[in-house]
Amino acid sequence: MGAGNVGASCAEYIALKRIASKVVLLDIKEGFAEGKALDLYQTATTLGFNTSIEGVTNNYKATAGSDVVVITSGIPRKPGMTREELIGINAGIVKSVSENILEHSPEAIIVVVSNPMDTMTYLALKATGLPKNRIIGMGGALDSSRFKTYLSLALQKPANDIHGMVIGGHGDTTMIPLTRLASYNGVPVSQFLSQTALEQVAADTMVGGATLTKLLGTSAWYAPGASVAYLVDSILNDQKRMIPCSVYLDGEYGQNDICIGVPCIIDASGVASIVSLDLNAAEQEKFNQSAAAVRNMNDALQTVL
Ligand SMILES: NC(=O)c1ccc[n+]([C@@H]2O[C@H](COP(=O)([O-])OP(=O)(O)OC[C@H]3O[C@@H](n4cnc5c(N)ncnc54)[C@H](O)[C@@H]3O)[C@@H](O)[C@H]2O)c1
Repeated sequence: MGAGNVGASCAEYIALKRIASKVVLLDIKEGFAEGKALDLYQTATTLGFNTSIEGVTNNYKATAGSDVVVITSGIPRKPGMTREELIGINAGIVKSVSENILEHSPEAIIVVVSNPMDTMTYLALKATGLPKNRIIGMGGALDSSRFKTYLSLALQKPANDIHGMVIGGHGDTTMIPLTRLASYNGVPVSQFLSQTALEQVAADTMVGGATLTKLLGTSAWYAPGASVAYLVDSILNDQKRMIPCSVYLDGEYGQNDICIGVPCIIDASGVASIVSLDLNAAEQEKFNQSAAAVRNMNDALQTVL
């Protein structure tokens, strides 16, 4: 839903990595999704994939029976704009799109990408009344990939050897890069990097999205699209990957009635389980502050819900 930069990039990676047999791009802009889909489909013979890619303008019937639906519809951040400022515009879009999806794909698992993502995920959950395992907000996968990239740059070691997660809200001030638990092939990164260097990596990660928005003039799409495709792969192909996702908490991490990033096992059912981390006092305090900020933003939904 939304064939813009992130939606189209996600479709491209799904096809290239052979994650799904069919992808439908839907957009509100007349002819836009059709054009993106046709352009992408014309790479199939060159790049060698068999995924069929169809584009439609607002025709939800074409999406009927979808297993997974990704919501990227909305407007992206402009330079200097916070994710929070997007709330008013994107809330109306996400609500109506989620309702339309379920009319035609009642069994779908919904992945929410539109910002402010934690609040949009909460909105989609409340608006649809779906069970909590079927609404998944994508933010932590992207923030973690940025975290691992900055760690690999600081360490001067291959990014694929770096492991680490970012939990908490998907916002410049609310995300929590877990530097204490990050590792270079299982060895704590603190063995190789000073506390100052680790703090710099965490700071760079937190403004990772804003850095790109400033450079590009709009928000990024390659890493967001790839992170969504990674999550969709774990759902469609029942991979049981551990991915930090924004999901509904019911007492976990000391929080209730909120969607916020925590590590989850993602399988064909959506959120199979939430992984409990043994946070230290400082990390738990950051998580509590992050939850308070997300909750504060959720209050703005009262006029929409
Ligand atoms: N969660 C994350 O990690 C993450 C990362 C990057 C971007 N985002 C967010 O994802 C969203 C999309 O970003 P983008 O860069 O692809 O923006 P974009 O402007 O390129 O694409 C958005 C598309 O949504 C379409 N759209 C608007 N209303 C619609 C509706 N009612 N139904 C269907 N389509 C509709 C627009 O026509 C547009 O083509 C933004 O809200 C952005 O902030 C989130």
